[in-house]
Amino acid sequence: MEITKAEFVVSNTDVKKCPKTHLPEFAFIGRSNVGKSSLINMLCGKKDLALTSSKPGKTQLINHFLINDAWYLVDLPGYGYAKVARSSREQWEEFISYYLLERKNLVCVFVLIDSRIPIQPVDAQFMKWLGENEIPFCILFTKTDKLTKNELNKNLNEYHTRMMGLWEEMPDNFISSAEKKTGRAEILGYVEENIRLYNQHLQK
Ligand code: GTP
Ligand code: MG
Repeated sequence: MEITKAEFVVSNTDVKKCPKTHLPEFAFIGRSNVGKSSLINMLCGKKDLALTSSKPGKTQLINHFLINDAWYLVDLPGYGYAKVARSSREQWEEFISYYLLERKNLVCVFVLIDSRIPIQPVDAQFMKWLGENEIPFCILFTKTDKLTKNELNKNLNEYHTRMMGLWEEMPDNFISSAEKKTGRAEILGYVEENIRLYNQHLQK
């Protein structure tokens, strides 16, 4: 799939105010600064569609982008950012969890993981929560341009081993770099296939 049209639609913190639609939706989530907004820009081929920053905590809202007039892509705030006060962290959890639990057209959540670091408790807990709530997800390893091939393979193997201690099988996963545009075709192919399955299901 090629992205020929990508437009910002709306930002908010309330799932009830998200676009009313039956179009399939894919959300990007992960720890602050992991590269969610950068990856969205890379996939869409637009530099400043989603706002990025070297400081964690840039994205604070649920941001909807309409892609090819056919599906939605959603940029979410990061979790696990220590400098955010506890009360606002709890609010975060609340509005994000409402969004994830109640958004009927949500097809898949991309959980972004920094390829340079081992599995973090907050990521493991979050994936466990997704599993318990039957919210489909896959893993996107980010910033792979910052590693050599050997380092990346070592980290991926370690991640796999750790995940196999927690899950019966490894979730679908992709490697990516917003910098080098790595993973673009694979990720968009995955989105395309899941849109096809979703639309097939809708027609039944
Ligand atoms: P929050 O919105 O704060 O949760 O962050 P985010 O996950 O949206 O991260 P963002 O895309 O804003 O990127 C954070 C920082 O990482 C920025 O300085 C980016 O330039 C950098 N970055 C993101 N992706 C990559 C990548 O693939 N390679 C490299 N080298 N840097 C990246
Ligand atoms: Mg962001």
